[in-house]
Parts: sequence; structure tokens; C-alpha cells
Amino acid sequence: MKEYSTPAEAVDAETTVTLTVNGETRQLAIPPNVVLLDALRDRLGLTGTKKGCDHGQCGACTVHVDGQAVNSCLKLAVMCEGHEVTTVEGLASDAGLHPVQQAFLEQDAYQCGFCTPGQMMSATALLEDERIGTDDAAVREAMSGNICRCGAYKNILAAIQSARGQSPSAQQESENP
Ligand code: FES
Ligand code: FES
Repeated sequence: MKEYSTPAEAVDAETTVTLTVNGETRQLAIPPNVVLLDALRDRLGLTGTKKGCDHGQCGACTVHVDGQAVNSCLKLAVMCEGHEVTTVEGLASDAGLHPVQQAFLEQDAYQCGFCTPGQMMSATALLEDERIGTDDAAVREAMSGNICRCGAYKNILAAIQSARGQSPSAQQESENP
């Protein structure tokens, strides 16, 4: 193992991380203290994931790691070695929008749009999670980590409930028969 003369030298030293992002294998040479959010935005150019508070308080940076919604501002990129990361750019496919994206459009579930990628990533994860109830109160509770400064909560809830039960492939096939 390489030895460093100062702690600062160890932090600045780059390490290689391999992860799968939106289905593609990506290799990054990054210092070990780089969080996943910065790796995605600054190293991979995936700026759909937003930096709001940078402290785990707002949910703007939500992505999926192995299908689970996580705050990417709180997760070191090196901890994602070998894992599957999905960002908002990975929700749609060539066949069309993900049902949650379509529902946000149809329900007018945003104003400025800054929180929207994080809202969508939390929403897609919760709709796949059988432990979370299907009533409005359960959805509100599950989405409570995603703050919307514009107060679009009512329409966000309507969008999530209207996307319930629609699989991405079925939605995409109906748009592109
Ligand atoms: S930017 Fe990560 S929770 Fe706010
Ligand atoms: S739409 Fe503006 S912060 Fe949510």
C-alpha cells in the first residue's frame, strides 16, 4: 500500500473507481474524498443531478445506487465501486419517457424544476418499494426528504400516484408502438 507523508497528500492522491452509470461502465481517477454528486456532475458531465444544500437536507441530489434512492452529496464515489448508479438521465430510454417523467409532465408537477430530478428519482424508487404504502400519506412520508421550494407538492403527489402500476417498458411501447 502506498505511504503518504501527510494526510493532505493522501486526500489529494487519486484512486481509480469503476462503476456502472446508466448502464455504461465508467472508470474515474478521483481523490478519495470526492462525493458521488461531484463525480457525476463534474467528472461525467451528468448535470441533471442537482446540488442544493450539499448536506443531505434537500433531496435535489437523489440518484439510485443498486435501485435504492440515495443522497449523492453524502456518498463517497469510491463507495460505489462495482455498483450500479442511475441518474435522471438514465430514466428515459430511446423508446420514450419513463412513466414518472410522463406523469410529471401531465400533472404539471414542477415550477422552476430545480428539485424535479431528485423528486423523480425518489418517486421511481418508492414506486418499486413494496414496503411503502400506496395511500397519499405514505407517499408524502416517503417523499419527505425531497424539498420543493416552489411548493409543487400537490402536483408531485398527483404525478406519483398517476404513474403507479405503469411499468417503464409498457409506457415506452405505448408511446412508440
Ligand atoms: S444536495 Fe444532497 S440532499 Fe441537498
Ligand atoms: S419546482 Fe422549484 S424547487 Fe421544486
